[in-house]
Amino acid sequence: MKKRTLILKNNKYNILISKDQNEFILALKKIITTNTLFIITDRNVKKLYLKYLADLLKEQGFNIKTAIISAGETGKNIKNLSALYDKALEKNLDRKSCVISLGGGVVGDIVGFFAATYMRGIDFIQVPTTLISMTDSSIGGKTAINTNHGKNIAGTFYQPKFVWINPSFLETLPMQQVKSGLAEVIKYSIIFDKKFYYYLFNMFEKGVISSSSFDYIIYQSCLYKVKVVKKDEKETTGLRSLLNFGHTFAHALETITKYKKFLHGEALAIGMLFAAKLSSELKICSDETYQRVKNILIEANFNLKTKINCTKFLSLMKKDKKAVNGNINFVLIKDIGKATNYYVKDDIVLNVLRKFFGIMK
Ligand SMILES: NC(=O)c1ccc[n+]([C@@H]2O[C@H](COP(=O)([O-])OP(=O)(O)OC[C@H]3O[C@@H](n4cnc5c(N)ncnc54)[C@H](O)[C@@H]3O)[C@@H](O)[C@H]2O)c1
Repeated sequence: MKKRTLILKNNKYNILISKDQNEFILALKKIITTNTLFIITDRNVKKLYLKYLADLLKEQGFNIKTAIISAGETGKNIKNLSALYDKALEKNLDRKSCVISLGGGVVGDIVGFFAATYMRGIDFIQVPTTLISMTDSSIGGKTAINTNHGKNIAGTFYQPKFVWINPSFLETLPMQQVKSGLAEVIKYSIIFDKKFYYYLFNMFEKGVISSSSFDYIIYQSCLYKVKVVKKDEKETTGLRSLLNFGHTFAHALETITKYKKFLHGEALAIGMLFAAKLSSELKICSDETYQRVKNILIEANFNLKTKINCTKFLSLMKKDKKAVNGNINFVLIKDIGKATNYYVKDDIVLNVLRKFFGIMK
């Protein structure tokens, strides 16, 4: 695999995509100013990669401290965050220490929040190990925890100092998790790039994803993310919010099912289909475009059927951060590759929800 480095210039950090650990060490040494590294991971990733990473860094003379959180979406909570502050103090981490997040989007989001707030902010590095985190969550500095009332309710924008994406970590990722990550990749194609949509569609049609295809889709996804974050870091111009395509719905679905029924990407697949349905109902896109969204999700083998109480679901969607004055800001599509922000009134959303779940039953 060819090493690729993307640079987020305004935030001055590099994203290294490479399977070569020596390149990681070289890059790390250029940016690090401390000898103490605090690696945080979850229980599953601990068994797979914690020793490997800790030993690699110890060999370079770093002083390694570690902490483990519970795995899965429910681990992104205030209790785990609070335990991390305690652990860091116990281990004498000071303001000059640096945290490494080793894991998927859950670890990355909570560790980012921890790094942003511990002693008013310490450096952190992202080492993503899932497809979602390699293609999306490790870049761009959104950090968060969930509360009882919803997903990502508390968080900050806090950029990492460096991101190392090693696609080899995907070799141990369960297929269901890989598929969940593919939903975010499909999202980029639907909102930004028709050619990429067809590339993915053909790949799903063949039914096999080669290691070089993974390398390509990771790089391509990172390119979109970097481009967007460069122009709209804090989601103020409407560009970055396009990345929320399907997410208002997905977050409500994850919350209402208590994070037990759907992985993030599985909820996102249904959320994207709903956003496409809303787009076609509002005549923002054609019925063919809606069908194209449906086709790629079916080709990628997503289960798009579910049942829900529409009124309760609507009120949950309104709690999402994308709602302003009660109106929900949806990302809708004009065509494959063309997305737009759009405020939609409650009664329209409710109508389309009823139609949508009518079809989905
Ligand atoms: N900050 C952002 O910009 C952003 C963007 C997208 C998603 N997210 C967040 O990311 C989270 C979802 O991320 P995720 O899908 O990576 O979930 P995750 O972190 O829960 O990881 C999924 C599962 O895979 C396991 N795992 C991780 N790496 C592995 C590996 N290499 N081999 C085997 N098992 C492995 C984990 O232990 C976990 O059980 C959600 O909370 C979502 O809100 C954040």
